[in-house]
Amino acid sequence: MSQIKHVAIIMDGNGRWAQLRGRPRTFGHVKGVRVAKKIITHAANLGLQNLTLYAFSTENWFRPQEEVSVLMKLMERYLVRETENLIKNNIQFHTIGDLSKVPTNVRRLINEAKVRTAHCSGLKLTFAISYGSRQEMIGAVQSIATDLKDGVISLNEINEDMINKRLMTSHCPDPDLIIRTSGEYRLSNFLMWQASYSELYFTNILWPDFKEDDLNKALTDFKNRSRRFGRIEGVLKTLFNKKEKNHAELNF
Ligand code: FPP
Repeated sequence: MSQIKHVAIIMDGNGRWAQLRGRPRTFGHVKGVRVAKKIITHAANLGLQNLTLYAFSTENWFRPQEEVSVLMKLMERYLVRETENLIKNNIQFHTIGDLSKVPTNVRRLINEAKVRTAHCSGLKLTFAISYGSRQEMIGAVQSIATDLKDGVISLNEINEDMINKRLMTSHCPDPDLIIRTSGEYRLSNFLMWQASYSELYFTNILWPDFKEDDLNKALTDFKNRSRRFGRIEGVLKTLFNKKEKNHAELNF
C-alpha cells in the first residue's frame, strides 16, 4: 500500500438498490451505512492512510425533507455508535463541508468525534458532509481575496500550495484514487480541484452491494495504472527521444 495514500469514494446507488427491492430509498441508506462501516474497517486494516467518503453533498439538501432527516439521523446514530470503535481502530475522524447547515446535535457529535480521535495515528477518515467542491473553492478564493485586500499577502504569492492550504482538505494529500459506484460516470461536485491527477475507477455495483473485495479490486486496478502527471516517463520517454532524434536527422 506504499504508493497509494488516499482513496476517496462516491457511495452512489442506495436509492436504486432499495427501489429494486420494492423498499423506500431510505432503506438503501441504512444498508449504505453498514457497508461504509465495513469499508472503513477494511481500509484501516489494509494500512491505508486516508479515506474520504462522500456522505452528503450540498445538493442533497434539495432532496425530500424526509430523506434528508433520515440521512442526518443515520449520521447521528453512526457517530453515537461508532466513535468508540474509531478510537479502538486508531482512526482519526475529519469532515469537509459546511457544517453550519447540519442539525446542532449532529454537529456536536461530529466535533466530539474529532476531539476524541485527534490522538489516533492510523487511518485518517474524512466524511464529506454538506460538501460541495465549488463552494469549497469559493471559500478559498474569498479567504485569499480578503488577505490580498488587507495586504497580508501579495498577488505573486498566490500559488497552488496556498490554495491547497485554504481548501477544506488541507489535512490530507490529493486523492490518488476516486471510486464511484452505481455506474454513474461523473464527479458530482466532489474534490474537483484535488482530483486533477486522481485515477478514476467506476463500477456498476450499487453501494449497498459493495464489498471489501470490491475495494481490493479497485486497488489492484490502480496498481496497474501508469500515472505520469502530464509528463512522459520510462519507456515512453526513451521512445520519444529516439523519435525526436530521427526527426532532427530528417530536419523536421
Ligand atoms: C447516494 O445514493 C448516496 C447518498 C446521497 C448518501 C450516501 C450516504 C450513505 C451511504 C450513508 C453514509 C453515512 C454514514 C454515516 C457513513 P443515492 O441516494 O443518490 O442513490 P440513487 O442514485 O440510486 O438514487
